[in-house]
Amino acid sequence: MQGAKVTEKPDRFEDGLRGKTLLESPELNKDTGFTLEERRVLGLEGLLPTAVETIDQHHQRVLQQLGQKPTDLERYIYLNQLADTNETLFYNVVMSNPAYYLPILYDPTIAEACLKFSHIYRRPKGMYISMKDRGHIQERLANWPDKNVRVICATSGGRILGLGDLGANGMGIPIGKLQLYTACAGVPPKGLLPIFIDFGTENSQALNDPLYIGLRQKRPPLDQVDPFVDEFVYAVQEEFKDCCIHFEDWRGTDALHYLARYREQVCCFNDDIQGTGSITVAGLVNAMRIAKQSLKDQTVLFFGAGSAGVGNAMMITAAMKLEGLSEDQARNRIWMFDINGLLEDSRIDLIPEQRLFSHKHAPSRDLVESINSIRPTILIGVSTVGKAFNQQVIRAMSEITERPVIFALSNPTERAECTPEEAFGWSDGRAIYAAGVQFPPVQIKGKMFLPGQANNFYIYPAIGFAVYATHAKRVTDEMFIEAARSTADAVTDEQRAQGLMFPPQSNVLESEVRTAVRVSTLIFDRNLAGIDRPSNVDAWLRSMVYKPEYKSLIG
Ligand code: NAI
Repeated sequence: MQGAKVTEKPDRFEDGLRGKTLLESPELNKDTGFTLEERRVLGLEGLLPTAVETIDQHHQRVLQQLGQKPTDLERYIYLNQLADTNETLFYNVVMSNPAYYLPILYDPTIAEACLKFSHIYRRPKGMYISMKDRGHIQERLANWPDKNVRVICATSGGRILGLGDLGANGMGIPIGKLQLYTACAGVPPKGLLPIFIDFGTENSQALNDPLYIGLRQKRPPLDQVDPFVDEFVYAVQEEFKDCCIHFEDWRGTDALHYLARYREQVCCFNDDIQGTGSITVAGLVNAMRIAKQSLKDQTVLFFGAGSAGVGNAMMITAAMKLEGLSEDQARNRIWMFDINGLLEDSRIDLIPEQRLFSHKHAPSRDLVESINSIRPTILIGVSTVGKAFNQQVIRAMSEITERPVIFALSNPTERAECTPEEAFGWSDGRAIYAAGVQFPPVQIKGKMFLPGQANNFYIYPAIGFAVYATHAKRVTDEMFIEAARSTADAVTDEQRAQGLMFPPQSNVLESEVRTAVRVSTLIFDRNLAGIDRPSNVDAWLRSMVYKPEYKSLIG
């Protein structure tokens, strides 16, 4: 491998596990995949059935067992148990057919898995740090056996998907997100750590559930939470010297608050803000190619002004600036509408980040009225309100422009602001549509449309890989814009002609590795890498891509 290596601490995998302990290590277990020689040398004789099998045979067995599971939730539970016992086989299966497995491991199944997390719980994965650990967070982190933790995905469970505060049941999210780092971008799974930060929950159903696995208390006020999160962030810096924190599914205002607090201090990013912004920009790049227009000439209206809405608005501002607008000109083209109506200058309930996108306008609580007045060409739903884009909304958009861009990004599925049938049907097939979940192809007036899934899983695994590989010191918005462009470029003209704005899921690994190469190159260009630049970034990064194959453990 080229590029200077950072000295890494020895870890438990080099400790030489043997016998039963080796079989119980999900990272190293190969089950009947151990050769006779490995069984002899590693003390496994008598501990395994006689047959020596290949990973392909194991894969076939998994398919057979999976085929007997009646629901996606059962398949989710089965696959996660497989990950707990044989990680290589788990990734071998999942990476063989991402278009099939992503919806089981993540959207939409993850929503049900989180709602039932305390009930389907089998064994601990990752770490749980609670308010009761205050003053001792670093000691707790030191209990994690791997000292080379490179990416932590941390949630407080404050806003899980569109489902609100799920408390500790939200732990399904960081677990799933990090599995997608490997499944989608080939990031080696060793060194990825999901953490649930337990402040309690406002969710009374969870608090009253006898099987709930989290802290049974209401969330404390921000003045108690801030010092705790500070302690966590700085304990991570002390315990894991070279680690990026990926914040995920915090309550909207908390997400914005903590990103602003730490982004200049430590290596971190917020996927709901920056990842969502990036995938939306990727979709808009292709939407503009389809409509043969420029982003800088569009007017954008957001329905929902939480972390995803504000994150998107900020990223679109950055993208419009790269097309030549000033910051003010870009912001003036972006409007927002939330639960209290249009964001306009008389509103007194806005946080500073929302105020950037509130403009002079009469108050309005009516979306259609706001559309008719502002005349947006792009409407983006990040509200968690299913079916909010009704016929009047789509018709109003279709009267303003020939190719209205309608992105219904809320998830899970029932929270999508409209379906592809509705967007295409009510716009006479003129809408350029994307959703946050994968809808099946739609036929309108004899023409087949392929609804794209604007999901940040095209972005954050690639960003994570670039940060992991380059040992980046910071994560910047420019990296997310580069990831957006790279993702948009992975869609062919032919695919765009069918309405596709994001790469097909079947090709996700190649598209994300390319994105990781482009983002890594940018990190080196901006002197943000913690290692020397290799002579060939593409070959260097590809040499690190995780391959889910059984490797010999004896020399
Ligand atoms: P959030 O809770 O921070 O914000 C929700 C926003 O919607 C708030 O501004 C709220 O005022 C507004 N809202 C709620 N009810 C409304 C109503 N009846 N009318 C108008 N506005 C209303 O949530 P966040 O993080 O911004 O996420 C929003 C949605 O976007 C979620 O469903 C989430 O799963 C989805 N999302 C999708 C992503 C993707 O890649 N497709 C990525 C990130 C989030």
